[in-house]
Amino acid sequence: MTIQWFPGHMTRARRQIQAKLKLIDVAVELLDARIPLSSRNPMIDDILSGKPRLVLLNKSDLADPAATAQWIEYFAGRGLKALPVNAASGNPSKDILARCKELLADKIEKQLSKGMKPRSIRALIVGIPNVGKSTLINKLAGRKAAITGDKPGVTKGQQWIRVGNEMELLDTPGILWPKFEDQDVGMRLAATGAIKETILHPEEIALFTLRYLAAHYADALKGRYALDSVPDDPSDTDEMVKLMENIGRKRGALMSGGRVDLEKTSLLVLRELRAGKLGRITLENPAPL
Ligand code: G4P
Repeated sequence: MTIQWFPGHMTRARRQIQAKLKLIDVAVELLDARIPLSSRNPMIDDILSGKPRLVLLNKSDLADPAATAQWIEYFAGRGLKALPVNAASGNPSKDILARCKELLADKIEKQLSKGMKPRSIRALIVGIPNVGKSTLINKLAGRKAAITGDKPGVTKGQQWIRVGNEMELLDTPGILWPKFEDQDVGMRLAATGAIKETILHPEEIALFTLRYLAAHYADALKGRYALDSVPDDPSDTDEMVKLMENIGRKRGALMSGGRVDLEKTSLLVLRELRAGKLGRITLENPAPL
């Protein structure tokens, strides 16, 4: 899908989420564990202000576990509990419920002390497109429940989806937008496949990605493409193009005449990265506090 946001969309999406916030106890902010900040709405703190919030680092099966641990610390340093999850093949329901209960412990305690039976925790999942919201809702619901495909402007009657006995989810997630103005953010979103159709050229995205891999995951790169070495200086564009040509040649991505087809090579690298063929890779480091 193409993500296109205009000021009107943003205002409407924000208003819709804020209307939903009135109905819920806890917001579940879904991020892509491979690019936690780039997959985050820049105004999220403002939009969700005052609501207890659980951060989920989804697609953690594809992310570097050491980097995920650093990201959890990063969020903890900002007063947010973050939990790595795998909505596609994991079973995160129990962990999510436990964390939500922790977040709402005071409220639950109050209800109990008044002799009330705590009612189901009501939650809303929010996140940018393709971060795994529908997959997670389906997983939590234990069936194919979520309406897939994002239509930010569409309003429907709200429905609650039961998650066991103690939790209820709003059936439509809150859909947010990433920070498009930042070129590197766009590159990371494109590299992970969050933006499927893009104005960015595959070669640009692959070059950006390969620079990061050469700097942070040289062994994974060497191993996957049987390379003897990778450039010491990933900012050296000539060297990086040579690396890409090298990969293309090894994989037979050639044009007639035997020249390396850089576009084909780029698409191949990106496809393999997204499929986890280079191992578990995170494309963004937390900035120090
Ligand atoms: P959205 O509602 O936030 O837009 O995201 P959605 O659930 O549609 O998920 C987007 C893509 O991410 C889907 O793949 C989905 O399978 C995949 N995905 C979601 N959670 C995880 C996860 O924890 N790990 C991995 N590896 N992938 C995950 P797709 O290629 O768009 O569709 P399909 O292959 O499932 O048909």
